[in-house]
Amino acid sequence: MPKFLTLDDFDVKDKVVLVRVDFNSPVDPQTKKIIDDTRIRAHGETTIKELSERGAKVVILAHQGRPGDPDFIPLEQHAQILERILGKPVKFVDDVYGEKAKKAIRELKSGEILVLDNVRSFPREAKDAPPEEHAKSELVANLASLADLFVNDAFAAAHRSHASIVGFTVFLPSAAGRIMEKELKALSRVMENPEKPCIYILGGAKADDSLRISKYVLDNNIADYVLTAGVTGHLFLVAKGYNLGKPNMELLEKNKLLELAPGIKELMDKYPNRIETPIDLAIEVEGRRKEITLEELPTDYPIYDIGAKTIEKYTDLIMKAKSIVFSGPPGVFEKEEFRKGTKALFEAMASSKAFSLIGGGHSIAAVQSLGLADKMGYISTAGGALIEFLMGRKLPGVVALEEAAKRKC
Ligand code: 3PG
Repeated sequence: MPKFLTLDDFDVKDKVVLVRVDFNSPVDPQTKKIIDDTRIRAHGETTIKELSERGAKVVILAHQGRPGDPDFIPLEQHAQILERILGKPVKFVDDVYGEKAKKAIRELKSGEILVLDNVRSFPREAKDAPPEEHAKSELVANLASLADLFVNDAFAAAHRSHASIVGFTVFLPSAAGRIMEKELKALSRVMENPEKPCIYILGGAKADDSLRISKYVLDNNIADYVLTAGVTGHLFLVAKGYNLGKPNMELLEKNKLLELAPGIKELMDKYPNRIETPIDLAIEVEGRRKEITLEELPTDYPIYDIGAKTIEKYTDLIMKAKSIVFSGPPGVFEKEEFRKGTKALFEAMASSKAFSLIGGGHSIAAVQSLGLADKMGYISTAGGALIEFLMGRKLPGVVALEEAAKRKC
């Protein structure tokens, strides 16, 4: 577990606390309305609520989308949603670090909350640069001089070495917020000496990420078994020499995944008994589910799920596990006929005694739609940051907090 300071280490009463959160939410491209408030709720109900109740003057800094993208919108809506969640007034200013923003910060009273505008409207925010360089930016210089404490609660953006993530920690006493703490605590349960057996279930379409994660967790003896499924599983089967048939091979080729097959083969040769691949599959024939064995490959139909024998085998491994990471659904769960694999594996995880961590947008949507979310150990709010963490990469936002803690000691 990384060593950083937390909200427990500071008296925040009457202090100006600059809180970097990750409010980045899905937005309807037509109406520009936020369609899911999970992240706003997560930060609101924990860190922001606590700071406000403890009498801090809370200044929120966050991004939404990327400049030029349809979801690059101001944060006024986020402030309104936060106000509804907290049931108390939340101020908004359409400025990030200019005179308007500074005036609004100076006028804050204890317990009040102010949301600044989209931090990515500051062009140098998203430059990938070291903390010392970002510390010299107008954003950091202007806001740091008004704040007493910096809190980074944005685990989901901690993989970005952006100004608002790493710049303030150079000047200000800095702490991790409650979401940052929770995410890192849950992740260390599955990354640092996890209770064994530990299994990683890697499905979904991001087979390149799955390969990197598999390599890291096997090479470092974190996972005992990697269970592949979804497009990831298909690619692992190809690396074993299977031809999946035209529609499936074309999909892998279109997404430039076939070039990963030699690296996957090398990994499977290194760990012949620790990587599981599907032993049967479900294809879509005229809108219906049909299960086939590997001997029946290649197929002219798209593969949309794992088959019953694979479900049985994977369920058995889940029931024996003590730690489980699930990233990426094993099938196209959005289609009723192909929900079976995802549902069965989640049900097994829900009934097992293992600590299970679920991550990735599709997996979260799947577990929520199946009504099993509250039966899981931890559901991460992060996407890219989680993937990078599982690959063993150091996240700049977390490193910056560790450095700040060292300076304080
Ligand atoms: C996310 O949604 O994964 C984070 O907010 C980071 O967003 P980004 O990929 O635009 O940096």
